[in-house]
Amino acid sequence: MFQQLVPLHEDAILGLMAKFRADASPDKVDLGVGVFRDLSGNTPVLASVRRAEHSMLAAQTTKTYVAPAGRAEFNDAVGELVLGTAHPALSANRVRVVQAPGGCGALRLGAELIKTARPEAIVHLSDPTWGNHAPLLGNCGLALASYPYYDAAAHRLRYAQMLEALERATPGDVVLLHACCHNPTGADLEPAQWRELTDLLQRRRLLPFLDLAYQGFGEGLEADVAGLRDLASALPEALIAVSFSKNLGVYRERLGALIFIGESSAQVDAIRTHVLQIARGIYSMPPDHAAAIAAHIFADPDLRTSWVTELEAMRRRIVDMRSQLAIALNERTGGAEFDFLRRQHGMFSQLGCSPEAVARLRERHHIYMLGDSRMNLAGLMPDKLPYVADSIASVLRN
Ligand SMILES: Cc1ncc(COP(=O)(O)O)c(C=O)c1O
Repeated sequence: MFQQLVPLHEDAILGLMAKFRADASPDKVDLGVGVFRDLSGNTPVLASVRRAEHSMLAAQTTKTYVAPAGRAEFNDAVGELVLGTAHPALSANRVRVVQAPGGCGALRLGAELIKTARPEAIVHLSDPTWGNHAPLLGNCGLALASYPYYDAAAHRLRYAQMLEALERATPGDVVLLHACCHNPTGADLEPAQWRELTDLLQRRRLLPFLDLAYQGFGEGLEADVAGLRDLASALPEALIAVSFSKNLGVYRERLGALIFIGESSAQVDAIRTHVLQIARGIYSMPPDHAAAIAAHIFADPDLRTSWVTELEAMRRRIVDMRSQLAIALNERTGGAEFDFLRRQHGMFSQLGCSPEAVARLRERHHIYMLGDSRMNLAGLMPDKLPYVADSIASVLRN
């Protein structure tokens, strides 16, 4: 059976992590791995999560199965957190939510649903996009295409080209959009651009599939989903893959959800039966641990306030690093080129330099980022910032 299987190339991020671990330099800086780090370099368990976890465990009397859809009270709270309590699709009972194993699980569930409903649909991904989108959405057999999104060297969106490409998509196709904090570019659409895109999707009868992995990391819990909410109220159908890995800091516990919006409550009920059958055929049921914690946090006003405060502190830390790095790089390069870091959102931005410059940063200065020059701003510490800025400026000079 397995004789013909040759080893695959090492995953780029795992390879980078191994190189970083093996680097003995005291100066080394990891801007590669995509997790939030606090000022001590830790990826902390949030205090609100810890408190909720303690009371959840104390009250737990059984570990029997929950359900293929996960925890009902978690799903209800997610619908309201993402769409807002007064969203017209919620009031019209046109929304259903199914818990999933992380954002990845939700993306895969959505892909399998599209494959069931319309196997010939092409899924259009932004160029560039997060490296896991293609396998998560393409491995179930759906065809993928890409639309221009961002020019890393010029530090700006390729918005006109994006619209042109999407105008040419076939009605019934799917457009994957990052709801906020685009990974890897940090470049999000402006409100007016969301509105124009919504019109295009409606006119061309394209299905939006929104990936929401960083709600609260950009401008705030509400502002980060403003474009998504408007789009979801204008269009008859939408899919949203939600991840709580980052904003609740529960990465390894695997917590996410797939939200689907349809034309009527009967239609979303029908979709739900398919989603549950797909889940049964892949993993049967999602893990409950973090869902129980999250449901507790969302329902308890006190815990919820602490979580929102902690989330805001994580967001501020990223915003601070963005602005300090922009200032430091502008000073060293004598211009305003790096202002883009301040305009962009979330943990990631691309420096916009060549793969060779990225290699020089790693080899000469022990600074690690992905080959496409994606840096995790939440991996940067204030005491290392002058060193990182000096190193980047020197590598960009030669
Ligand atoms: C853009 C994007 N979508 C989805 C995810 C899903 O993450 P998880 O499956 O860990 O919840 C991530 C995580 O890095 C991401 O960056």
